[in-house]
Amino acid sequence: MPVITCIEDLRELAQRKVPRAFFDYADRGSYTEQTLRANRADFEKILLRQRVMVDVSARDTSTTIIGQKISMPFALAPVGLLGMQHGDGEILAAKAALAAGIPFTLSTMSIGSIEDVAEATGKPFWFQLYVIRDRDFIRDLLARAKAANCSALVLTVDLQVLGQRHRDIKNGMTVPLQIKLSNIIDTAMKPAWIASMARAKRKTFGNLAGHVKGMESVNSLAEWTNSQFDPALNWKDVEWIKSQWGGKLIIKGILDVEDARIARDVGADGIVVSNHGGRQLDGAPSSISMLPKIADAVGSQLDILFDGGIRTGSDLVRALALGAKCCLIGRPYVWGLGAMGGAGVAKAIECLQKELVTTMALTGTRSVSEIGPQVLADWPRNTL
Ligand SMILES: Cc1cc2nc3c(=O)[nH]c(=O)nc-3n(C[C@H](O)[C@H](O)[C@H](O)COP(=O)(O)O)c2cc1C
Repeated sequence: MPVITCIEDLRELAQRKVPRAFFDYADRGSYTEQTLRANRADFEKILLRQRVMVDVSARDTSTTIIGQKISMPFALAPVGLLGMQHGDGEILAAKAALAAGIPFTLSTMSIGSIEDVAEATGKPFWFQLYVIRDRDFIRDLLARAKAANCSALVLTVDLQVLGQRHRDIKNGMTVPLQIKLSNIIDTAMKPAWIASMARAKRKTFGNLAGHVKGMESVNSLAEWTNSQFDPALNWKDVEWIKSQWGGKLIIKGILDVEDARIARDVGADGIVVSNHGGRQLDGAPSSISMLPKIADAVGSQLDILFDGGIRTGSDLVRALALGAKCCLIGRPYVWGLGAMGGAGVAKAIECLQKELVTTMALTGTRSVSEIGPQVLADWPRNTL
């Protein structure tokens, strides 16, 4: 087993363990991947201010988000098909998040269902909703999330139509799935993955199977989902969802100040500044470059969450310094899961946590609330 010291190590290991089609599905971005690259490149432009001789013997990483106390300023982002990176992926990731004291978000498009995760953890988690045409189905899904004690609804609004990932098409990750000889050979060389899938409780979309009439196979459910994306979706629908849900609402996929203001006006408790990890609008700015403007505009009126490109604990500090209250991480824990199952998710969380406390110390901060723009090297100028 290689020595794992950072998220990149988990990525490399996942690449060896997970069939190529599923690894690429998680790893890649839409079209030219300009936005995917910008999410990382812009983080590297933000320099931190080294401070010395501050007593940092006690450091507290805990904070609150939408009224919930969490042990560290990040949560696991919703990720579709998580259970294809490793059998029972949703359950393993939810347990690792619970053990670390941070929220796990279950995607609508997960393999493990709402009920599977609720039964395995016995604790509240966040549920992410894609709004689809079939409103009866949505009503049912929200009722199931409520029954499972989900403590927040994360409503994703940046996927009215699907951005294309060229690599998915070449790999046959399409609807219907293309079974290619190269995939069969590649998968045959990933025995640990095959074993984990053989043991897994589910192998199809857990939130849909048994709830969409006459559809059980992965292909028929994927086809149904594709026909259900709703380009007519608009803010009126968000009001309807809010009224159906009645609990904490986080709107995910805001990248524009104007949209952030509307999200505030419809009564969201929080927003996630996000470009869907560079998987939707290619050519959109990096999430981190938009964060300060959005935080300035609405940060005092709702909770600002952030995602896109976080790979280290120092990235967490950068995002908090620019106005985020909490971050979501996507690929880092997906790679951890693919690399080592639940232990890999725990490892990803641990890597971020350890670097977070070190970065806090070396920037002279002792608590999350102390992390502000003064930790940036070019403060008070903002170069993004
Ligand atoms: C494989 C994969 C699947 C995803 N599926 C969903 C999803 O089902 N719902 C959603 O709101 N966002 C989804 N996202 C976006 C993530 O929630 C998050 O916004 C993004 O991964 C953050 O960027 P990062 O991967 O650089 O951390 C997905 C991302 C990845 C990588």
